[in-house]
Amino acid sequence: RKELLDELYRRKEKIKQMGGEERIKKQHDAGKLTARERIELLLDPGSFVEINPFVEKRNTDFGLDKVELPADGVVTGYGTIDGRPIAVFAQDFTVMGGSLGEMHGYKIAYLLDFAMKVGIPVIGLNDSGGARIQEGVDALKGYGDIFYRNTLASGVIPQISVILGPCAGGAVYSPAIGDFIVMTKNKGCYMFITGPNVIKTVTGEEVTPQELGGWEAHAMKSGNAHLVAEDDESAMRLVRKLISFLPLNNLEDPPQVDTGDNPARTTPEIYDIIPDDPNKPYDVRDVIRAVVDNGDFFEIHEYFAPNAVVGFARMDGRTVGIVANNPKFYAGTLDVNSSDKIARFVRFCDAFNIPVLTFVDVPGYLPGVQQEYGGIIRHGAKVLYAYSEATVPLVTIILRKAYGGAYLAMGSKHLGADVVYAYPTAEIAVMGPEGAAEIVFRKEIAKADDPEKVRQEKIQEYRERFANPYRAAARGYIDDVIDPKFTRVKVISALRVLETKREKLPPKKHGNIPL
Ligand code: COA
Repeated sequence: RKELLDELYRRKEKIKQMGGEERIKKQHDAGKLTARERIELLLDPGSFVEINPFVEKRNTDFGLDKVELPADGVVTGYGTIDGRPIAVFAQDFTVMGGSLGEMHGYKIAYLLDFAMKVGIPVIGLNDSGGARIQEGVDALKGYGDIFYRNTLASGVIPQISVILGPCAGGAVYSPAIGDFIVMTKNKGCYMFITGPNVIKTVTGEEVTPQELGGWEAHAMKSGNAHLVAEDDESAMRLVRKLISFLPLNNLEDPPQVDTGDNPARTTPEIYDIIPDDPNKPYDVRDVIRAVVDNGDFFEIHEYFAPNAVVGFARMDGRTVGIVANNPKFYAGTLDVNSSDKIARFVRFCDAFNIPVLTFVDVPGYLPGVQQEYGGIIRHGAKVLYAYSEATVPLVTIILRKAYGGAYLAMGSKHLGADVVYAYPTAEIAVMGPEGAAEIVFRKEIAKADDPEKVRQEKIQEYRERFANPYRAAARGYIDDVIDPKFTRVKVISALRVLETKREKLPPKKHGNIPL
């Protein structure tokens, strides 16, 4: 028996050595951790259970028969984060550049099946040179099997991808189908479909891998990256925090924790955050932090489309998804990117039973030829669609402006919000008083002896009549006008009563959200 056990441990030890000392050193020298070090940092200490360590390649072409590829370049298994079960795979760049062959793909696909069956999130730690070139179409099959399962798992279990090295070509699509992408600032961390060399050949453009697909490109411009970390270690911490807000699967409620914050705490600081002048900007995140438990707001997509803000927080210990317009950027208007950002986030929350708390201060959609050509109609429609189909509790606070179609889109009563409150400073109307007076009283202003005086009178008249919350309140479009200092109290009591909310959509295969 001793010999058999020795053999077992010898084999396991060999697999743990990954690509060998030299390649591990190269990995460390590049400022990256190894696949196994990353898993150790991500999961609770000692909780990792490896699955399929002995799986190995079957292909032998182009010298593959002469090399050993421990674990076939990907470590898979499960463990816990804060005691809650999680499935994880980590691509091992020290083993043939973490390239994905048939069996590497099989291991990830198997893990996805396993995670779906037991209903636990999957975290993918990506660090790979892409499809293992020697394995040809078998490598592509490996990817296909993963994409298919990513899609089936969408809305069933949370799927989080962390990009910690190269992620190029078809490899990008597993992260892209999932829910959240985290990138690091490491210069070897990038994502693109076609790399700098191909681009240079085809279009003549010259660009570095980092410029093309590094964290700045994806967190600020393309919006592919949702979260950014300094390095591997902080990326693992960030994922642990993200997981803390989420349920394990779509049949569970999000976890409830004791945050210690007083549910009866008043929020008078909001008086000073929102300026009296309706045209003055402020940072809506200050309002969010005033309201949520301990001011702890976990922002998603922080650098992308900053005119909208989305993220997770807790109210009386329960997870909420926060959506807000931010007047600090482009006056808080809705545009192509902010619409995508909001719609995607609301749909994630709805899929995973997370109530949505919306703070509205929106003057309308961003005007412009580029916005129209860019499809603001189609993208803006996603926001309306996402709120309308959401069956989770929806609580909306109108802080200041709520104009036109953007008023409707931002979690209005008309799209199914359950509780809508407005501050006394709210202006709910078809458009701002200036624009409205110009159109409605155009002839009177033109005819007047003193057109400017009449214009100002008419603006004032419109403001008094419509640009306040009371007309909407009189129609029952908002539930109440509230004192800002009671925002936290009111939101918590709304979320409590809505815990038993039941709403069903008409039966259908799936809707056709304007993509
Ligand atoms: N298939 C097979 N082997 C691969 C591979 C792939 N897709 N990607 C990397 N490797 C191997 C390399 O051949 C190298 O092996 P070696 O050390 O035995 O020579 C090892 O992994 C490490 O790669 P290396 O190129 O030395 O690392 P790097 O950090 O300098 O560069 C990449 C990383 C990803 C830029 C580079 O490896 C690359 O361009 N890979 C191919 C990408 C690609 O075209 N993929 C297929 C389409 S999806």
